[in-house]
Amino acid sequence: MKKMLLLKYLTATTLGWLSGTAAFAQSPLPVYLDENEPLEVRVTDALSRLTLEEKVALCHAQSKFSSKGVARLGIPELWMSDGPHGVREEILWDSWGAAGWTNDSCTAFPALTALAATFDPEMAYLYGKAVGEEARYRNKNVLLGPGVNIYRIPLNGRNFEYLGEDPYLASVMVVPYIRGVQENGVAACIKHFALNNQETDRGGVDVEVSDRALREIYLPAFRAAVVEGGVWSLMGAYNRYRGQHCCHNAVLLNDILKGEWRFDGAVISDWSGTHSTLEAAENGLDIEMGTGTDGLTRNTTNAYDSYYLAQPYLQMLREGKANLKTLDDKARRVLRLIFRTAMNRNRPWGSLATEAHADAGRRIAEAGNVLLKNEGNLLPLETGRIRSVAVVGENAVRGLTHAGGSSELKVKREVSPLEGIRNRFGKTVKITHTLGYASGPSSYGRVNPSPLDADSLRREAVKRAREADMVLFVGGLNKNHGQDCEGGDRESYDLPFGQNELIEALRDANPNVVVMLVSGNAVAMPWIDRIPAVVQAWYGGSEAGNAIASVLSGDVNPSGKLPFTFPVRLEDNGAFAGGSLSYPGENHRQVYAEDILVGYRWHDTKGIPPLFPFGHGLSYTTFDYGAPVLEQPIVYGTCDTIRLGFTLENTGKRAGAEAVQLYVGKPDSSVFRAEKELKAFCKVFLRPGEKKRIALTVPVASLAYYHEGLKDWLVEGGDYLLSLSASSGDIRHRIPVEISLPVADGTGLDFETETLSLTELSKKPTE
Ligand code: BGC
Repeated sequence: MKKMLLLKYLTATTLGWLSGTAAFAQSPLPVYLDENEPLEVRVTDALSRLTLEEKVALCHAQSKFSSKGVARLGIPELWMSDGPHGVREEILWDSWGAAGWTNDSCTAFPALTALAATFDPEMAYLYGKAVGEEARYRNKNVLLGPGVNIYRIPLNGRNFEYLGEDPYLASVMVVPYIRGVQENGVAACIKHFALNNQETDRGGVDVEVSDRALREIYLPAFRAAVVEGGVWSLMGAYNRYRGQHCCHNAVLLNDILKGEWRFDGAVISDWSGTHSTLEAAENGLDIEMGTGTDGLTRNTTNAYDSYYLAQPYLQMLREGKANLKTLDDKARRVLRLIFRTAMNRNRPWGSLATEAHADAGRRIAEAGNVLLKNEGNLLPLETGRIRSVAVVGENAVRGLTHAGGSSELKVKREVSPLEGIRNRFGKTVKITHTLGYASGPSSYGRVNPSPLDADSLRREAVKRAREADMVLFVGGLNKNHGQDCEGGDRESYDLPFGQNELIEALRDANPNVVVMLVSGNAVAMPWIDRIPAVVQAWYGGSEAGNAIASVLSGDVNPSGKLPFTFPVRLEDNGAFAGGSLSYPGENHRQVYAEDILVGYRWHDTKGIPPLFPFGHGLSYTTFDYGAPVLEQPIVYGTCDTIRLGFTLENTGKRAGAEAVQLYVGKPDSSVFRAEKELKAFCKVFLRPGEKKRIALTVPVASLAYYHEGLKDWLVEGGDYLLSLSASSGDIRHRIPVEISLPVADGTGLDFETETLSLTELSKKPTE
């Protein structure tokens, strides 16, 4: 390599001299700066020029949200920002305090649960592209998101930051998000790897989960981010797995991520998620962030030098106690990340808080809103029939883009539900608003009680309800500690602040009640039988209010589907049913008792009816799922994909979109399985009366289960059952399918018993 570099240098200088041009014009670029060279050649060149100290300096923070480059060589530092719903405001160099800039207000995009509810990968790309443009404009190199931890229990305070309970849905949605972000020369940072499925004891809990559940449920979205999305960075989780913290976990980071999946990016610790030098050095951590907080900087000249991967690491390397090759691997990964982002001269410029971004956010929020119930077609709101609306509820006016923890945002604008409703209906309908309940000021880690009197708030709301044609209750959770907020789980499955009683009282006063839930989590609905219409509106970001009004008015026909199950009672949730060792854990130990039966897999398999099933969402129109046709036979080697065709027809009077879903089960499986699992979906837009031919495909390989003994994925031949569905609880057609796998000796086909590993199958001849 050195010889090659020398030759290149001589050739370039000789040519410059021979052609007689000015020396500075022809002075050769060092290879690492030459963008015509392949990335790996440049990284290798840069690495060869670094001192031991410079390499170590790449491996830890230099401020709350940045890490060093190599100033001597013109290699820039890395700037990171949260993520994932917008670009966080500037934070002080050494503490969590806001820097107080006036040019860092951003667009808040809908929370990731809302994105998942769109069931539309095009929306995920639109989201990633827009938020990536904002990150680029703000000169951020790494956007700390998206999060793909699986929704295991409705109490997790951070569920709103994730993509729901199904590994397939999360995998399909995360890939275009990453692509959209990274096209801006900004790295996405997939987080939190792995098993960070709750906030309670998040830094201490040691998660015990079967290898099968790990592989089939908790890892697929991370794998998709790495293998299909080509994500450039990944954040370790706070919790422990097999006794080791996930930010320096040999199995997760070395064996799976960097070994099996060949991740070539950098592993970044969660802030204060690093706990040892040697383990972090050897077990896959590349950049240590956030270890020192405010207090640590007070008495030392540079607290960042005290990080585990700073002076203590350097010392161990000098003493031969840590491996130099491992250091080189880390430095190489960090350089790669810098070259892909901060040093990428071809990046676009980005843009901040533009109308285009507001519009993208609005479209995503509109497509994600879920119509849960609509008895008697109370919605859409007909302005001829309804002349006055009593809007009740704190979430109608409360800012919901700030607070909530690290995903908090400082927004250029936030249209509240009340504002959106007034914008849309204000001229034709009399709109009043009253709080009805009050929660107290928003804070992180602390709840201040409301100074307002609950009884008088309720009395006033009931009075308004009586006087109006319709009541629009806008409540749900908020971003306070103990609600949808980082750092703590919810304390109850019920709606807080007396909302259940309030909803009943409103219904007693007026039968036309629409409940609009703004939350990132499922909630109990003891009043559901009495309330005619319910909309799940999520946290909609800057354009939340306008998106809500579009759906209420019918300007946009709701098409969102639930990305997680709403159980009737908390006890019906699989994780909760396993007792306190399963959730929230005992003495830092936690066993995922429900194993692979997460979310709808649990409800379906155990026969526990949910309040609303995964994938559920109504529309103002109706869709007919025509008889499906299956391309048969499925003989692996000749055909390795199941193809199901059918005609979807909009049989109603309004244009609308439907997310059709295909689940697959194997009733006679030789191993325990969930009754059915989502294996394909597709969002289809149809005008009234329009029909479209839809093709859904399922690769046979995706039917494999993880065999713990063999540590491999196995596909069973034989009979499967496809369920073409409008939700996991609304199956329109059941279609049996038989899959034949080639027998091991290649002489024939065994239809019933053959089980082959994906490794074996990939070796089989195709004829
Ligand atoms: C969160 C991360 C976040 C980081 C930086 C941590 O507390 O878990 O998701 O990116 O802080 O704000």
